[in-house]
Amino acid sequence: MRQGNFIVMDGGEGAGKGTVLRRLRAVFPPPKVLFTREPGGSIFGEEIRKLILSDGGKRADAATMFLLFWAARRDHSYNTIKPAVASGRHVVSDRFDSSTWAYQVYAEENDELRGIFWPLRELAVPVKPSLYLYLDVEPEIGLGRAKKRGERNHFDERDIKFHTDVRDGFLDFLKLAEGETHTVIVNANRSIDKVAGDVIKILKPFLA
Ligand code: TYD
Repeated sequence: MRQGNFIVMDGGEGAGKGTVLRRLRAVFPPPKVLFTREPGGSIFGEEIRKLILSDGGKRADAATMFLLFWAARRDHSYNTIKPAVASGRHVVSDRFDSSTWAYQVYAEENDELRGIFWPLRELAVPVKPSLYLYLDVEPEIGLGRAKKRGERNHFDERDIKFHTDVRDGFLDFLKLAEGETHTVIVNANRSIDKVAGDVIKILKPFLA
C-alpha cells in the first residue's frame, strides 16, 4: 500500500491556523485525511499537553519545556502519525518540530538546545514531514487578532520581541528544512478567505 503524506501546518499566534484547519477539514474530510495537533495528538501526548500549558509549564525553563515537547512528539509520532501514514491515510498536524525550533530554541535563545535538536528529532520522528506549510503573520497583526479572540495561553502572553523572534525562528527552520523536504510560506496578513484559499490549493496535490 502507498504511504500517506504527512503535512505540518505551523504559524505564530493569530496567524489563522485554527480557522484554516477548520476549512481544510470540510474540504478534505476524514477518514482519508487525519487531522491532529501538537502538543498532543495521542492519548499520552494530550496528557503531556496539559502539563505544558499548566502554570507549572509557565514557570519551567526552556530546556525542560523542550524535553516535554519531544516526549509528547515521540508518543504522537509512534502512536498516531506512523500507523496512519502506513495505512495510506494522509496526516495534517497543527504544529510540529518547527514550533520547537521557533519557540524553545530560537526565541528562548537557547544555544545548548540547538545541537541536540537534531539527534532528538531522529529519536522522536520516524516519519518526516512531506511538507511544512508556514502561515506567516506580522507579530503585531497576529497578537492583535489573538487578543480579540480571548483565549490565550502562557506563550501568547509573551512580549512582542518574543513573538518577533518566534517568527524569525520559523523562517530559519524552513531554510534548514528546505534541503530535506517541501516548504511553503503563505502570507497570513491577508483576509482569512484568501489565506484559506491558497492553503487549499497548495495542499490539494498532497491530500488527494
Ligand atoms: P495551543 O493552544 O495549541 O496554541 P495554538 O492555537 O497557537 O497552536 O498551544 C500550543 C502552544 O505551545 C503554542 O503557543 C505554541 C507552543 N509550542 C511550543 O512552544 N513548542 C512546540 O514545540 C509546540 C508544538 C508548541
